[in-house]
This record gives sequence, structure tokens and C-alpha cells, in this order.
Amino acid sequence: MALFDKSAVTYDQWCSTPLGGYVDRLEKQMLTELANPKPGESVIDLGCGTGIYSILFARQGLTVTGIDASGEMLNHARNKAAAQSLDIEFLQGDLLSLPFPDNRFDLAICNVVLEFVSDPRRVLEEGLRVLRPGGRLIAGLIGKQSDWARNYEKRGQENPDSVFSQARFYTLEDIRRFSDRQPSQIRFGLYVSPAEFVSAEQAAELEQRRIGQQAAEAGFLAVRWDK
Ligand SMILES: C[S@@+](CC[C@H](N)C(=O)[O-])C[C@H]1O[C@@H](n2cnc3c(N)ncnc32)[C@H](O)[C@@H]1O
Repeated sequence: MALFDKSAVTYDQWCSTPLGGYVDRLEKQMLTELANPKPGESVIDLGCGTGIYSILFARQGLTVTGIDASGEMLNHARNKAAAQSLDIEFLQGDLLSLPFPDNRFDLAICNVVLEFVSDPRRVLEEGLRVLRPGGRLIAGLIGKQSDWARNYEKRGQENPDSVFSQARFYTLEDIRRFSDRQPSQIRFGLYVSPAEFVSAEQAAELEQRRIGQQAAEAGFLAVRWDK
């Protein structure tokens, strides 16, 4: 059974909580700003999970393919897309060996996935391989030196069945070493810690106050590589 099969039911429920909704909106904003998606472009959602980013981009008029190892996550993604009459191709597969030819997609998105793969370098290499020249790959990662990563690490240690027991978190220096190609753009965000969150308004205020000041402690990093 794939690691995320047991999380499929609860995965999207997090986004309906006040904190989860805030994080989801902020991450979408940061990743979309770097991705600059355009209608008609083709996008591959690497580790698409329940299809959150596949659906976001399909609604913006892109042609979307989502790939994931977890059959259960993909079932949710397919059901959600069908309910919105969105035509998205969802495939079960391994990011370490993508079933696509070189130079196929305009855009690749890989949100909170590199933390869970055995070889992030290989996944990035594969993601870049399937991008056409001029294409861009955008990854979203949880910042290693943040309270978010510490919180997830603790959850993984306390519960070996949790997906976080398999997660590894990375600093920007680690991420830079994932590819010989250097990132073209990096954004830091999510400065509110899970413990101090009160409301979306308060979190947005904290974000404005802290942004750019404590980049190493950011809860979320958005990184873009251009091919
Ligand atoms: C935390 S979820 C993120 C899902 C989605 N990107 C999102 O932002 O909601 C990580 C996903 O990566 C998938 N995954 C992890 N390792 C994988 C691999 N080697 N091949 C394919 N999918 C993988 C998991 O099955 C899971 O659905």
C-alpha cells in the first residue's frame, strides 16, 4: 500500500479548518506567482495527491496531467475533478521514473512531495526532463528550520503510522543541491507558527511584519527552476 493511501479521506479536511484554509491559500498564492500559469499550457502535477493543484490549474484553462503513487489519493482526485466536470488525466506512477517522453510539458508543479520521496534529486531531474526547453518547474517545500517542520517531525516520532514518520525536511542549501541547475526564483512565506495561529487576519498581519526578515525560519518555500 502506498504511504498516503490511509490519509486520502482526511487530507482535504485539513483545508477546511481555519489554519488549513489559511495555509492552503498562502501556498497557492506563492506557487501561482512563481508558476505564472497561462491558459492552454500543459502542466504535470508531480505527486498530485487529491488533485488540489491539478484542479486549480484545470480551472484556469491549462491541460493537466496528475501523477501519484497512491491509488486512494488518485480516487479522490478523480471524483473531485468529475464533480466539477474537469477533464484531467490522473495516472498512478512513480516520480522516480516518469512515464513521459522528454520535452512534453510547459509547466511542472511539485507541492510538498520532495519531503516524501527517497531521492529528491532524481525526481527533480525527471521533472526537468519532461519539461520542454523554456519550461518551468515549481516546488513547494516545508522549511526545515520552521516550527512547522519541528511539529511534523514530532508527530512522525510519536506515531510511526503517520506519513510524517517518513518525511525529511530540507534547508534552502539542501534544496540548491537537488540539481546542478540553480533555482531562478525563490519565495519564503508562512511565518505564523501552528501554535500561534488565531485567525487568518492575525496570521496575515504577522506575515506582513515578518516577511523578508527571518527567511530561514519560513514555514514554506516556493522554488522555481527554469529549463
Ligand atoms: C503531502 S502529499 C501532497 C499532495 C499534493 N501535491 C498537494 O499539494 O496537495 C504528497 C504526495 O506525494 C505522493 N508521492 C510520494 N512519493 C511519491 C513517488 N515516489 N511517486 C509518486 N507519488 C509520490 C504521495 O502519494 C502523496 O499523494
